[in-house]
Amino acid sequence: MKHLLSTEGIDPAQATAILDTAASLKQALEGREVRKLPTLRGRTVITMFYEASTRTRVSFEIAGKWMSADVVNVSSSGSSVGKGESLRDTALTLAAAGADCVIVRHPASGAAHRLAGWLRAAGTSVVNAGDGMHEHPTQALLDAATLRERLGDLRDRRIAIVGDVLHSRVARSNVHLLTALGADVTLVAPPTLLPTGVESWPVTISHELDAELPSLDAVMLLRVQAERMHGGFFPSAREYSISYGLSERRLKLLPEHAVVLHPGPMLRGMEIASAVADSPRAAITDQVRNGVHVRMAVLYHLLAHEEENA
Ligand code: NCD
Repeated sequence: MKHLLSTEGIDPAQATAILDTAASLKQALEGREVRKLPTLRGRTVITMFYEASTRTRVSFEIAGKWMSADVVNVSSSGSSVGKGESLRDTALTLAAAGADCVIVRHPASGAAHRLAGWLRAAGTSVVNAGDGMHEHPTQALLDAATLRERLGDLRDRRIAIVGDVLHSRVARSNVHLLTALGADVTLVAPPTLLPTGVESWPVTISHELDAELPSLDAVMLLRVQAERMHGGFFPSAREYSISYGLSERRLKLLPEHAVVLHPGPMLRGMEIASAVADSPRAAITDQVRNGVHVRMAVLYHLLAHEEENA
């Protein structure tokens, strides 16, 4: 694997290999006082974030550091991007400075693919850490890792993705990955928050959360992406949360074993009630924890695995 740009068309065997590596890394590091492996010593990883991030950026940085890579963070403010440098020139600069891998988050859909093209000659790997409304493959992988931990094999598991699917790269990456792993995915959203062409996706569509809950193995709430909305997509925050928020009443409709996920940042009281977010049914902090191991696994498969095979 040279790049990780999307989960669309991902080979289920490749995805499973990454998830298995993440699980072994987690096992190897758990309970250890010194969480440092020598695997990526001498390798340079640069994160390049043109959009806000807490979890993704921090966990990529920790992942690189726990594997002994040198990790450098570049953000749009404080770099030459603020002086008007193009994405291409910034990327070529980072490659020339010695990046073995560039991790990019950008508001434009397709930015990571373009970057991979520009960096081909330099041989630099690219990881998409979220491109506009398009994809966020490592989020889907960490969600799958968390679900596997709680549910085992995902084949034929019923998973609902709820809320602002239209603006969500998390939803797109999860639909591709979870269906590739054999899960049965239902999108639950108001018609205004579903993309055009969704009928051709390999999913079931529903507008009634209450009707879906009793038969689910997992429910994933999405943040309402106000920053990507121009116009009214629903009458009010209150009405949205009444129809699509996971309240304490709704939590009781889920089977005992069902898992509650949210990629964060959460809007408590909007898509998820505070008590639900803090309940033991919610795996939200597990998602963050697994995010580090999954990103370690991705860096390993990009930067170390091929070499070992050779
Ligand atoms: C998500 C993102 O940025 O796409 N956050 C994340 O990476 N955990 C989801 C969101 O912002 O709503």
